[in-house]
Amino acid sequence: MSNTPALIPRPRKVTYGGGFFLLSNDIAINAAGRALAEAEYLAGGLASALGQRPQISVSAARPSISLTIDESEDGIGREGYRLAVSQDGIRIVSTATAGLFYGIQTLLQLVPGDAANGSRAIPFCEIDDAPQFPWRGLMLDVSRYYMPVPFLIKLIDVMAMHKFNTLHLHLTDDQGWRLEIAALPELARTGASRRETLIGHGNQDAATRRFDGKPDSGYYSKHDVRAMVAHAARRHVTLLPEIEMPGHAQAALACYPNLSCTGEPCEVSRLWGVHKEVYCAGNDEVFTFLETVLDETLALFPSAIIHIGGDECPKDRWKACPKCQQRIRDEKLADEHELQSWFIRRIQRFLSERGRSLIGWDEILEGGLAPGATVMSWRGEEGGIAAARSGHDVVMAPNKSTYLDYYQADPASEPLAIGGLLPLRNVYEYHPIPAELTPAESKHILGTQGQLWTEYMPTPEHVEYMAFPRACALAEVAWGTSDAGDYDGFLARLKMHLSRLSALGVNYRRLDG
Ligand code: ACM
Ligand code: ZN
Repeated sequence: MSNTPALIPRPRKVTYGGGFFLLSNDIAINAAGRALAEAEYLAGGLASALGQRPQISVSAARPSISLTIDESEDGIGREGYRLAVSQDGIRIVSTATAGLFYGIQTLLQLVPGDAANGSRAIPFCEIDDAPQFPWRGLMLDVSRYYMPVPFLIKLIDVMAMHKFNTLHLHLTDDQGWRLEIAALPELARTGASRRETLIGHGNQDAATRRFDGKPDSGYYSKHDVRAMVAHAARRHVTLLPEIEMPGHAQAALACYPNLSCTGEPCEVSRLWGVHKEVYCAGNDEVFTFLETVLDETLALFPSAIIHIGGDECPKDRWKACPKCQQRIRDEKLADEHELQSWFIRRIQRFLSERGRSLIGWDEILEGGLAPGATVMSWRGEEGGIAAARSGHDVVMAPNKSTYLDYYQADPASEPLAIGGLLPLRNVYEYHPIPAELTPAESKHILGTQGQLWTEYMPTPEHVEYMAFPRACALAEVAWGTSDAGDYDGFLARLKMHLSRLSALGVNYRRLDG
């Protein structure tokens, strides 16, 4: 049907009937108990579509939109739903509030874009929908550039519309520490600002480097985080904090140089890339520091899983450091890779004693993986394959398919980006389960997420330009209903879907041609 609404992500099963339900101004939302919060959200969504906020009632005689939680509904899980539109009204059923919320997202996409002008026909249909993957995410790097709270709130809303459920915040790195830690006030005072930033690429040549002369500053207070966590929970999004270790730590070391191997003062970095200054693995004060940071982080973020980075930790300083070498001897470790693995295991024990589990970039495989750790596979899919084969859970984030900081078209016609090339089509054609895994191993693939590293995205508008519409394609991949053989069908739906992004003021990249 050519006039059917463009649904993104596409539901698992849709059957259209012949006819339309007309949304009237006096439509009521029928909900009770735990469904009431979802009803409030729907009322808000319809208020902007219709220009009038529907009533919410416990029972409604007239045609209504009913939201029901029924734990005996089978085959859809807690994020799935069944949605029926008929002449009697609209009915959404799920086993849990998350599924109702996703049914509401689909319903809002069924409402015509020009509903406020009187076009209110919703096609009769039956939709049976549930995600293939429980992990559907985006990662936003707020270290390289601080991103304001209202932008994160907006991003969470736009993510929810695409049925994403995880926003991974890369909170710390060499160029900025963005989380208030009350017991370590220097992190916000000093670590959250750098005085200027390298212009362009060209890190290496000190003689020709140029800087922009503009400070970048900002951090999230506890109040900010609580507000974002609460908002995300209402949108069924988990905020996943990443506290990076043992590398990418220079902003912290600028505050507390005693935590590095050399103890030499350093600055919050003005350069990009991989830095040699890392936390000293032989100094117990480092663990006291990190445990203090993590204790405050856990108190703020309810996420069951905590990201500890683990990527790109050069071993130069550890090789030359007497304390690190002593640790290697004391713990009977073979080398610096095993020292890194020892470091991560120690942190994993700390988290598990507090009822949380650990996720890290795929370097945490080197030197032996901590038991129970989840791997985020970014240097391709190999790390994820090895982890799944050894019984570990995996989030697929391979750079060639999910790095939304890569160019989306010919660099000659695009704003400066980090490099690489990842057109919309390649995102849409990605499939998170590698062909070489057995069905049993595939169960460890939790899902996928898109990466927004922000070295070359100084503003929210620029982040939106890089994220959308590629994240629309990834949303369908993560929901598990993409069809790599029907990219044109996706594009046709996307063309209509873009007006929804426009209505939300998202600065997406226009489609080619
Ligand atoms: C990464 O891109 N260094 C995880
Ligand atoms: Zn050391």
